[in-house]
Amino acid sequence: MNSKEIIEQYNSSVIGSYGRLPLALESGSGAQGCNADGNTYIDFGSGIGTNSLGYADSQWADAVSEQAHRVQHVSNYYYNSTAAEFAAKLTKMTNTDKIFFGNSGAEANECAIKIARKRSFDKYGDKNRTTIITLVNSFHGRTITTLSATGQEHFHNYFFPFTPGFKYVEANNVQALCEAIDGTVCAIMFEFIQGEGGVNVLEQSFVDEIFALAKQHDLATISDEVQTGVGRTAKLLAAEHFGVKPDIVTLAKGLGGGLPIGVCLTRGEYANVLTPGTHGSTFGGNPVVCAGGLVVLKKLSDPAFMDELQEKAAYFKKSLDALPRVKNVSGLGLMLGAELDGIAASDVLKKALEKGLLVLTAKTKLRCLPPLTITYEQIDAGMAILHEVLENE
Ligand SMILES: Cc1ncc(COP(=O)(O)O)c(C=O)c1O
Repeated sequence: MNSKEIIEQYNSSVIGSYGRLPLALESGSGAQGCNADGNTYIDFGSGIGTNSLGYADSQWADAVSEQAHRVQHVSNYYYNSTAAEFAAKLTKMTNTDKIFFGNSGAEANECAIKIARKRSFDKYGDKNRTTIITLVNSFHGRTITTLSATGQEHFHNYFFPFTPGFKYVEANNVQALCEAIDGTVCAIMFEFIQGEGGVNVLEQSFVDEIFALAKQHDLATISDEVQTGVGRTAKLLAAEHFGVKPDIVTLAKGLGGGLPIGVCLTRGEYANVLTPGTHGSTFGGNPVVCAGGLVVLKKLSDPAFMDELQEKAAYFKKSLDALPRVKNVSGLGLMLGAELDGIAASDVLKKALEKGLLVLTAKTKLRCLPPLTITYEQIDAGMAILHEVLENE
């Protein structure tokens, strides 16, 4: 089938909940994708930060296929060595104590919310100490509860009633945060960099205040690192940039190298809140996904890979900053947003696609989340396309 036929067949049978671009990706290698008609694309989006090692990394593909040939699923009745190894490795690397396995970012955040509320109830026996403070402009997922947690009014539509128990505070507004804390609050949940909200990095002083207030009021700190985690900011966790250790950390997107996984990592007393029967997920800890995830973790635990990642990220940011019409660049590592002058990011995205570059947007910004394995040559090639689009439009 050619691209046109694929798109027609897809649209005729799939619910139209997305505004898709007219591109059918059928194969790829590293940071280069290929469509059904044989055209190639430099990828500055990596499937929204998910193909962390790019398309079809050979070690990753071998590990996934070997695991699929051995055993693909065992259920939560039983144990499996690949899942055990992945859990041990990830908790060690992140300096956390225990993990819960799910399949997506929203599911990881649902788990975090449940742990924070149950810990509060277990400790205080108070059914009203359940409120979770989240930030205005945040994004935490598409389930009814994670939509509630998301601090953007336009997401609180159509699907009433939403889960109660969330309060929204403006990012970097310490006074508003202080005022929001009362006897009903049990946790503060935040992204270190608001991804969907426009690649906005939290201020260090605000992060420090979150942790100080949480300590003072015995509140859980939940960092949603679904987008910022797994090397995206050129460190394993974005928390490392801020020198803090949240009680609960959620990861998803890049963790499986493109296979569905979402995890909730916990520290200290939060590690033992969930007991048999209190939470579950059929596919959680799937061995095939964990086999792919182990290859991602192996790369991220190689100091040479991390050093190169930091250098590449600095080069990427400098190149983006130097483009015409770029007013400023926000973000950390390879999670970057460019504010543009006199041109809509959505138009740039469409023009770039026509010229062979995949890029993303976040609010008004042009957003780049390239694979962590992107080469300098691919960065240059993608920037040349952006240069052409920005100069000529
Ligand atoms: C910070 C953050 N949290 C949660 C989610 C939801 O993840 P998923 O789509 O895997 O449920 C996203 C997705 O963009 C995200 O960026």
